[in-house]
Amino acid sequence: MYEQLIPAVVDTFSLPGEPEHDFLLRLRAADICLRRNYATSAAVSSEPYAEPILRAAYLLRYLGHYTLQLGDLLKELEGSAAAHVLALPELRLAALCGGPCPEAIALAALHSQAGGRRLQVDALDRHAEAWSDCWPITSAIIRHYPGHPEVRIEGVGTDLLKPSLTPQEHRRLQMAQVFTSMNCLNELVGVDADSLQRGLAMRLDALSPGTLVLASDLAGYSDCAQGLQMLLDLLTARQATVLLAELDPSRPHEMENRFEIPERIAWIYSGEYENRFRIFVRQLRLAAVLN
Ligand SMILES: C[S@@+](CC[C@H](N)C(=O)[O-])C[C@H]1O[C@@H](n2cnc3c(N)ncnc32)[C@H](O)[C@@H]1O
Repeated sequence: MYEQLIPAVVDTFSLPGEPEHDFLLRLRAADICLRRNYATSAAVSSEPYAEPILRAAYLLRYLGHYTLQLGDLLKELEGSAAAHVLALPELRLAALCGGPCPEAIALAALHSQAGGRRLQVDALDRHAEAWSDCWPITSAIIRHYPGHPEVRIEGVGTDLLKPSLTPQEHRRLQMAQVFTSMNCLNELVGVDADSLQRGLAMRLDALSPGTLVLASDLAGYSDCAQGLQMLLDLLTARQATVLLAELDPSRPHEMENRFEIPERIAWIYSGEYENRFRIFVRQLRLAAVLN
């Protein structure tokens, strides 16, 4: 993945005429800032994602790990009630708070293995417009590695904490066969848990019966556990079939880091700068099918 990712990030996010070394210096500062945000507060503001250099830093640090995160969950569902969904020739994903959409890479890998022909991804995100510069990168990775025949990523601007859905978002949710919520609930539980619950409920109610709902968040923040429990309660109240619920932070799913850090960017993550490339990927996970 990094063979495609690194040059694409450098090309997309460097300033005109900026040498790669200078760009990576800026990216290193942004990466440290991202990590500091996540470490110091559960309620991380989503505003930093509007900054191009922070999106670039997010792509290099997280895109690979978060792809594996959903990939592991999907693999676990092989042979379950979810399998027929992944084998649909044309598949539609609604990625709630999708950001750069690592969700799409993981889903595309299984979908293409199952003979899938077309994957449409709708990223429902407060910063959909800003993240749109990352989707050509995500799509190029999908075409290269899983070798998926046709993927299209589009955005729908939305605010999960606002009390209504636009007709456009409602339509995209209705058409989706897979709905994901990855690495976002902690930010929102910390801001306003009641509004989050209403926002999640509205979106679950817009989905069609048979939709596969997948959620995963880091185990290290209590807000993640609270957000996933909220989602599980909403699913249970709607008589969804729960396929997997690993929500106990003391017994997280531990995911192995399977990436070697490429030499071209290794120096920006060196200990010398109190930085590390490896991230903890202990996760809480949830999978259900709506009835
Ligand atoms: C940590 S990123 C996760 C992105 C992606 N799901 C992943 O796993 O890499 C959190 C995402 O939530 C989005 N977000 C934050 N607050 C939001 C809100 N109130 N409504 C919708 N999206 C929001 C951000 O723009 C960002 O894309």
